Amino acid sequence: MRIRCLRFALPAALLLAVPFPGVAQEPTHLTIDASKAGAKIDRNLFGQFAENLGHGLYGGIWVGPNSKIPNTRGIRKDVVEALRALKVPNVRWPGGCFADQYHWRKGIGPVAQRPATLNSAWGGVVDDNSFGTDEFMDFIHQIGSEAYVSVNVGSGTPAEAADWLEYMTAAAPTALQKERAANGHPEAYKVGFLGIGNESWSCGGDMTPEYYLSQLKIYSRFVTNDNPQQTGANQMLKIAVGPGVPETEWTETMMKGWKSHDWSWDFNGVSLHWYTVPTGWPPSLPSLNFGVDDYAKTLKSTLFMEEFLRKQEAVMDKYDPEKKVALVVDEWGAWLAPLPGTNKDFLVQQNSLRDGILASLNLNIFARHGDRVRMANIAQMINVLQAMILTDQEKMVLTPTYYVFKMYVPFQDATLLPVTFDAGSYTHGDVSLPRVDAIAARDVSGKVWLEITNLDAEKPAQIDVAIAGVTAKTAKGETLTAPAVDSINTFAAPGVVVPTAIAGTVKNGRVSITVAPKSVTVLALE
Ligand code: AHR
Repeated sequence: MRIRCLRFALPAALLLAVPFPGVAQEPTHLTIDASKAGAKIDRNLFGQFAENLGHGLYGGIWVGPNSKIPNTRGIRKDVVEALRALKVPNVRWPGGCFADQYHWRKGIGPVAQRPATLNSAWGGVVDDNSFGTDEFMDFIHQIGSEAYVSVNVGSGTPAEAADWLEYMTAAAPTALQKERAANGHPEAYKVGFLGIGNESWSCGGDMTPEYYLSQLKIYSRFVTNDNPQQTGANQMLKIAVGPGVPETEWTETMMKGWKSHDWSWDFNGVSLHWYTVPTGWPPSLPSLNFGVDDYAKTLKSTLFMEEFLRKQEAVMDKYDPEKKVALVVDEWGAWLAPLPGTNKDFLVQQNSLRDGILASLNLNIFARHGDRVRMANIAQMINVLQAMILTDQEKMVLTPTYYVFKMYVPFQDATLLPVTFDAGSYTHGDVSLPRVDAIAARDVSGKVWLEITNLDAEKPAQIDVAIAGVTAKTAKGETLTAPAVDSINTFAAPGVVVPTAIAGTVKNGRVSITVAPKSVTVLALE
């Protein structure tokens, strides 16, 4: 404990020199083979999800042009600036369960003339529809991202969805293109990804896989992207609803259908939703004031993602050995008990160091499955579930999960490099976990990056790195840790869980570094 207190009292530069005195360590030997390339870590794995839910959009992104909160055309400036630093590749909107109740026409045109509707998916609150299609596209443009639009299959029609796509993407002077131009946007929008429904086995209409497949074919055929720029490699990718349980019946039906698709319909990805809910539904673990028991249980639970992916991949490989269809984990993250005093339908939870570590473990799993898993969307972006950002009126705070996403930016579109190491084990009570996790990659400029997660809540990890194919001279980067597993950033104290500088020692091309207990570290090996 004395060591830990000392560590957090010291400035970052001095920390580099404190090698966790008094802690005997068995080094973990890790080898990176920089001469061999693995799959690309698609930047779309770092996607986000912004549903019309609670204060995810209203208050989190949208405050309206007349707000005292600094904004650009109604969109918070502080949030935009923070998100730009994450290089968010894509944002999924408007849901979630909300997507299958959304009728897009209610959210376009002069705001004063938009109808008020009820958000019956999330708390039955009145929605003035002031954040609609054009506002979403403006937001996407401001943060430098791409649109992943989920169309309404549950309570909508193919015609309604086709019109929406025409409104967004038509460049030719159709009535809908002219309507969009009259609303201030003559240029066709880019819609990078089209989600065809959401959780159609549950809130999206409780469909059987066979019934959904027949709907999917119709939507895929008729809901087209009319943007002349979106052809070839730039084409809009269509994503089918996938499973929310590890059983493979749903994926089997989709992939079997895909295998025999003809010219008239297709899809490019099948989704998967899986949340970390360690004690089952309804989520009961707190997001605040918890101990190492809950920490270990949560990490154990999150590591199940690997098995979930493997099961779906086995089915996909059977029908699509060339891996044309991507597995898209478009909802993932920790789903914890609602914060006391909040509307339980708004899914408000705090975000601690534990969430940051959980994020790194999942991102590493996705990276290792990058040949099939080419897109993912953490749930959700702001104020909902495992958020990047929390806001309250004019206040904003960045969460540990935000900082992990920021530290991982160099991995976007990098090439995975094979890493071998003995993860060891960390046991707490009756929970046993790997002690460390790691990935390495070469970025587009040729630089090699290494990520190390130390899951051990009590002990630092000494890592000894050998790199084949590259002679490193320096190993510098950032590390994220905090005094306790439940440490959080608050509006009053936003700097409790923030990355600090770290460097390893390099001798004869071998890197040696000691990382703190419960930490995420990203190093550039140059
Ligand atoms: O992210 C919250 C909800 O979780 C989504 O609306 C739904 O798709 C899932 O069940």
